[in-house]
Amino acid sequence: MTSSPLDNLADQTAELLATIAELATIDQLREAEPQLTGKRSLLSTLQKTLGVLAPEDRKDAGARLQEARRVVESALDGRRAVLADEARADALAGDRLDLGDVVVANVVWPASVGHPSLVAITQRELEDVFVAMGFRVSEGPEVESDWYNFEALNIPPAHPARGMWDTFYVDLGEPETVVLRTHTSPTQIHLMEEAVANHSLPIHAVMPGRCYRRDTPDARHLATFHQIEGLVVDRGISFADLAGVIETFTRAYFGPDIESRLRPGYFPFTEPSAEFEVTCTICRGEGCRTCSQTGWIELGGCGVLDPAVLDAVGIDGDEWSGFAFGFGIDRCAQMRHQIADMRALIENDSRFLAEFS
Ligand code: DAH
Repeated sequence: MTSSPLDNLADQTAELLATIAELATIDQLREAEPQLTGKRSLLSTLQKTLGVLAPEDRKDAGARLQEARRVVESALDGRRAVLADEARADALAGDRLDLGDVVVANVVWPASVGHPSLVAITQRELEDVFVAMGFRVSEGPEVESDWYNFEALNIPPAHPARGMWDTFYVDLGEPETVVLRTHTSPTQIHLMEEAVANHSLPIHAVMPGRCYRRDTPDARHLATFHQIEGLVVDRGISFADLAGVIETFTRAYFGPDIESRLRPGYFPFTEPSAEFEVTCTICRGEGCRTCSQTGWIELGGCGVLDPAVLDAVGIDGDEWSGFAFGFGIDRCAQMRHQIADMRALIENDSRFLAEFS
């Protein structure tokens, strides 16, 4: 048997594959490529020698050589893909920021992982004060029907008192029948209905939650704000009980330095009604922009339950009476912490937020 230039092809191919497997970087691969498959490569040199073969052997040898080239080229492609992936991973690892070392506005992250907002903290503190006074805590829905938000509270459709609340309507059912609650007072109605259904009167409860009004935010108002509602339904309740609760609450929450007062007011669901005010803590009563130069800040309203409200939920007004109140939680936070402009509560300025962490 005559010798052929392809006698060692299997070994030579194996060597080429071993060389390819050892290429460690894309640059090395690029450099080695001409020697592996280029014009001066072993495979190309062998190709040229095929001419010496007898014509009957040439076809078979050509096919073997082509197959060897295919194997080598595909090994080279495979290695290229692996090296490219590695290079990409290295580049990403190099670009990665070690957030443990990043310092933003003198706060080292992740040293600070966030904390409850001042409003959430205030709500918890207010709940604690009232729970200590014997109230339980209950919550109601933020989307209400017109009946709960207005009608059951003795505010019939088209009553002028509706103007007291600039209302957001929800596009649901008949126009203007579903609202984002404008106050937490509708939760009173839910509680009274429940108590009637379960024969569980009396009621002593506070109801915190978010409310919405079509108001332009200013130093004392937000369009999304929070109230804590109070409700007592029991036997023999009078305005004196209400005044006592408000006095106790003010002392407990604001301490002895802050003065409070009740001024005659009007709410459709209470009679008599009052407005609950505290000395403006920004100016200590001198008069400033926050309190519109009055020296007082209104925290909310209160009063003795109007018999029409008891009627609406089916409570016998001859046996039961009660009082209610509703205070702004954001206003309580504002006065307790002397925040001149309430909009600070929603501006997410990290320097402000960090003061209450
Ligand atoms: N809901 C009233 C408001 O947001 C505040 C209020 C007044 C609540 C008198 C009461 C109340 O429970 O008795 O303007």
